[in-house]
Amino acid sequence: MCGIIGINGNFNHYKLLFEGLKRLEYRGYDSSGIAYKDKEIKIIKVPSSIDTLKKECQEFDSKVSLGHTRWATHGKVNKENTHPFISNHKLFCLAHNGTIDNYLQIKEELLKENYFFNGETDSEVIVNYLEYLYLKKQDVLKSIYLLDKKLKGSYSLLIISKVDDNLYFLKNQTSLLISKEKNGYLISSDLYAFNKNVIDYYELKDHEYGFVSQKEARVYLNQIKEKVKYKKIKVDYENFSSINCFLEKEIFECPRVIADLIAHYIKKDKILLPNKLIDKIIKAKTIFVIGCGTSYHAGLIFKRLLPNKNIKVVLASEFIYEKLTFDKDDVFILISQSGETLDVIKSYELIKDHFTIGLTNNKESRIARKVDINLDIMVKKEISVASTKAYFGEVVILELIARKINNKKVDDLKSLPKYLESTLERKEEALELAKEISKYSSLYFLGKGIDYSLALECSLKLKEVTYIHSEAVYLGELKHGPLSLVGKNFPSIIVSSQKELKEVIETSKSEITSRGGKIFEITSPFDYSLNYLLIVLFGDLLSLYVGRILKVNIDKPRNLAKSVTVE
Ligand code: AGP
Repeated sequence: MCGIIGINGNFNHYKLLFEGLKRLEYRGYDSSGIAYKDKEIKIIKVPSSIDTLKKECQEFDSKVSLGHTRWATHGKVNKENTHPFISNHKLFCLAHNGTIDNYLQIKEELLKENYFFNGETDSEVIVNYLEYLYLKKQDVLKSIYLLDKKLKGSYSLLIISKVDDNLYFLKNQTSLLISKEKNGYLISSDLYAFNKNVIDYYELKDHEYGFVSQKEARVYLNQIKEKVKYKKIKVDYENFSSINCFLEKEIFECPRVIADLIAHYIKKDKILLPNKLIDKIIKAKTIFVIGCGTSYHAGLIFKRLLPNKNIKVVLASEFIYEKLTFDKDDVFILISQSGETLDVIKSYELIKDHFTIGLTNNKESRIARKVDINLDIMVKKEISVASTKAYFGEVVILELIARKINNKKVDDLKSLPKYLESTLERKEEALELAKEISKYSSLYFLGKGIDYSLALECSLKLKEVTYIHSEAVYLGELKHGPLSLVGKNFPSIIVSSQKELKEVIETSKSEITSRGGKIFEITSPFDYSLNYLLIVLFGDLLSLYVGRILKVNIDKPRNLAKSVTVE
């Protein structure tokens, strides 16, 4: 998944392009590049961060420019695979977000036409195929239309041409938005790149293509000109330039954003959720909860909250291929912070005729707009690749649904922000534990029942933030094999929110210590019904501090992207 931005009009392109790329960096940062029209098309690109790119780039003036920040899907992270790409005869320059399924077949056709390729990406094939079409048709728009007919897969394309000063585009599956400005137009994969609080934007639909010039935006579908109706949206993008660690900011924001979330959904002790949603869940034969990563771990909690309901929590990437059959009354809860995760979107496509509920942090996202009812988790923009505050927003909403169904009180839920705050005050404790954990290269997180779900989330966070290998194992399973790894260089972190399991935990502890294994524990000192959430927050703090000790790139861990819009 990548970030793309294009500009056409009377702007300071250099400034606007880099500002936009910086705001898109969370979407991918293996490599980055820009292109602009001077007499020729100029391209500057690096297999590195946007900061490095900026150092390689002189200030420039232009009427049309584009930029790209990449999370590698096809091909290694090197300059040859970095966007943007220019076609062999230098007629077109292109940046792409998405993946093309039939690019090898197209590449074969082009090789027979004596086209050459410097890299291994699907994107380089697209720009050369566009040129190949243009050389036959001598019409850019017609060529883009035919290109769309040829490509199979997901693609948002921004294209500069030598032919004229238009900024061309083509969109299928991955998002692409046009922002109408006073002095021209901006186009990006993400509203967030426009760096403004009020945006007049048009969200391109699949297979729409066209161009923006300084004066107009022309959109076509099947060669017919579309009417472009802009939507106005207010976005509360804080100014992030002063933040040097988003993970820390977002962990310490949890009490505030969860307090706002609870205030939004609970008025005078009444839970405000759509009656239709509750009725559908009550009536459902099976409730499927679908997500990836941290959102999947949040979904696992739901099963524990409604033990008498038939709830199946599934990984979206598996759900797509499981060929399950469903009852007409089955309900599907799709959990996705970004609302753009392709595995979840593909899962939706399989069950869109059923009743679908979204839990997302972006009500403009594709999942939010596809589902029957979207519940906003309202934790404000989450930038750090490691998801923290979104987990709490997702679980709190699941708690609200369960309590509405069970007619359970909400007093303890209303005091969650206070307990989250108290947990953050344990940061010295977390730092001390981090000093220990940072000495190891591999470890277990152990938990029983709901605590295993917490162990999964703590383990993911540690892996993705610190590169320390960790694995979540059911506490009771340790003796059935995993115990073989335990020893003085392989510690275990026992995650425990259930005081009533004290005995069985003591037994497991002796299994570990008798083999020289070191034990650490993550528990909560509070007598509180939602201790399980406080444990995850402590685990987030732990990963933050271990990452700091190990001096890794905490907000942008290697190989990862914030929202995975590819399979
Ligand atoms: C979480 O820390 C990870 N970065 C990742 O697992 C993430 O939760 C997953 O990709 C799902 O993202 P989503 O919630 O935006 O769908």
